Amino acid sequence: MERARVAVFAGDGIGPEVTHEACETLDLCARRFGFQIEFAEGCIGGAAIDREGTALPPASLELAVGSDAVLLGAVGGPRWDDPQSRIRPEQALLGLRRGLELFGNLRPIVVHPSLLDSAPLKADVLRDVDVLFVRELTGGVYFGQPSERRIGVDGREAVDTVVYSEQEVVRVVRLAFTLAQSRRKRVTSVDKANILATSRLWREVTHEVARDFPDVACEDVLVDAMAMHLLRRPRDFDVVVTENMFGDILTDEASVLTGSLGMLPSASVGDRSNRMGARLGLYEPVHGSAPDIAGRDLANPLGALLSAAMLLRHSLRQSEAALAVETAVGRVLQAGFRTADIGNGARTVGCREMGSVVRRQMETVAA
Ligand code: IPM
Ligand code: MG
Repeated sequence: MERARVAVFAGDGIGPEVTHEACETLDLCARRFGFQIEFAEGCIGGAAIDREGTALPPASLELAVGSDAVLLGAVGGPRWDDPQSRIRPEQALLGLRRGLELFGNLRPIVVHPSLLDSAPLKADVLRDVDVLFVRELTGGVYFGQPSERRIGVDGREAVDTVVYSEQEVVRVVRLAFTLAQSRRKRVTSVDKANILATSRLWREVTHEVARDFPDVACEDVLVDAMAMHLLRRPRDFDVVVTENMFGDILTDEASVLTGSLGMLPSASVGDRSNRMGARLGLYEPVHGSAPDIAGRDLANPLGALLSAAMLLRHSLRQSEAALAVETAVGRVLQAGFRTADIGNGARTVGCREMGSVVRRQMETVAA
């Protein structure tokens, strides 16, 4: 296989700490499983605003476009939080999503058996939960125009716009059904069809796509009801597909089931393929830049490590290596290692140590 090119955007806050652990882990995988990775670092987010006055410098987007996969830490922080500012770190995320046409955001919610007591919900509700969220990522209210403040007849007003084209719905719903085929073959499509025209189109198109997948069961659930079902009976869901903002909100809610936002990985993919004959994708932990704990070796690197596993699986065709990372993470948790956010283990460790413990475990698994 050719040498894989991975663009690394560590970003702000705890981004560099967790990304460092992910890169070390990818390096170990390359050695163990006999493939080659070449990392190229780029600057985005607050760091890029400080250096170049923009959250996504053109050279960074170019770097991402020319790579086989992108690994991202986190962006943002109080220094760049001024709501009046027209330049914000988050623009880097939206620019990369749009620039690479990453329309499908995969967020697996898996409750690890040894973290059953870390979540605020009853262990009985959480046992065996395994849900894959597929969030539409390049449309909806995040990108709809107009989106602006203006002066109306009654004074200040503001407008945001939700638009979805048929094609935008088809491609993400198709992705969800395809993924469901290699899981438990159930798709739950979440919308607000009793109120929104975009949701009614979403539902109509989903049913049309569903006809091409007779082996997959499909149900529609309204987003407000889904918010409730997720806490009462999360085990009932397999693949959940939804539009951009509903997905943003529901995945934060779902993260509570796993014990900590710090545990969650994500993959953003589209239809572009890379030189590995796989999908070009962007991989990042779901958590933010956590400026309050940045630089103190307190962050949980497991979300980043599990994102690296998704990178191996979806962009590098290295599913064995991906599984080795995931298995090692499971074993390390089982052995009682915890970062501060997941607490109550036998041993509380820092970000660096958690990374090395997982790698040590991998050496045993892969040996
Ligand atoms: C996410 C984040 C982003 C989003 C923000 C930081 C722009 O919340 O990836 O879920 O809303 O998409
Ligand atoms: Mg979010």
